[in-house]
Amino acid sequence: MTVKHFLQLTDLDRDEHQYLFQRTRQLKAMFKDYVIHHPLKDRMLAMVFEKQSTRTRVSFEAGIHQLGGSSINLTRGDTQLGRGEPIEDVARVISRMVDLVMIRTYDQTIIERFAEYSRVPVINGLTNEYHPCQILADVYTYIEHRESIQGRTVAWIGDANNMFYTWLQAARLLDFKLHVSAPEGYGIDPARVSPEDAPYLTSFADPMEAARGAHLVTTDVWTSMGFEAETDERKKDFADFQVDEEMMALADPQALFMHCLPAHRGEEVSEGVLEGPQSVVWDEAENRLHVQKALMEYLLLGRHQD
Ligand code: CP
Ligand code: NVA
Repeated sequence: MTVKHFLQLTDLDRDEHQYLFQRTRQLKAMFKDYVIHHPLKDRMLAMVFEKQSTRTRVSFEAGIHQLGGSSINLTRGDTQLGRGEPIEDVARVISRMVDLVMIRTYDQTIIERFAEYSRVPVINGLTNEYHPCQILADVYTYIEHRESIQGRTVAWIGDANNMFYTWLQAARLLDFKLHVSAPEGYGIDPARVSPEDAPYLTSFADPMEAARGAHLVTTDVWTSMGFEAETDERKKDFADFQVDEEMMALADPQALFMHCLPAHRGEEVSEGVLEGPQSVVWDEAENRLHVQKALMEYLLLGRHQD
């Protein structure tokens, strides 16, 4: 039997995403009602963190526990990975002992190599290239507040980073438009955009124009994990790319603001927008828990009703 992984958003098709969103709604309602739901009783999740985390760590650990299972948290430093054990060997060993693996690491190839040698599903908890669990939560949050994302316009302001490329996959998969505006030198890599993406994507030099009429405005830190050496240069280069009240005023009157967090107030987003009435960042963060519970349940058990 082939093992189902979630290394990129596109590892699941549109129908599977629709299933996950409706299942998330059910699991969230059950959670709020204190319903005990243990379909993953005695199952074990191994989490491997090669970068820092608050939301991913807590949501996966709490999530697997709420589904009846438990977790082990591993970092490079406290495993033999730190002493150079090959990822293929680590994958073969860990996946004989646990039921599910979540990895946060650097290159996407690391997680792909792990998955190739894993007997159990592997989930991408963020790589330099993609952050699919976050986009699951973001799209779910949009649907929760505004019913459907199909045909809407999402404006991405800032670095064309792991979040941006996952938004691009979502746009094509779920049929919405993506506007992007990034400073020169931090924009789209043409090698990462296919001709099939083109109808969903429009680039703008002026971030204000990218936000104009958008139904969702979203951004991320100017310096992602792994790029810390560029922080000072990036602060200068991104200075005109803050999502502020003036920018939100150009968006659709019903527009939402999202940020995967952690946020840097006064850099990529103003305090007023982050804490303002259009911001749904706390729902967005909470929804990591609910979408990932639906995802873990789906990867291990398939579609589930109770
Ligand atoms: N948004 C997100 O993935 O947060 P953490 O880095 O805290 O996990
Ligand atoms: N783009 C950011 C997201 C953090 C959740 C990073 O990779 O650091």
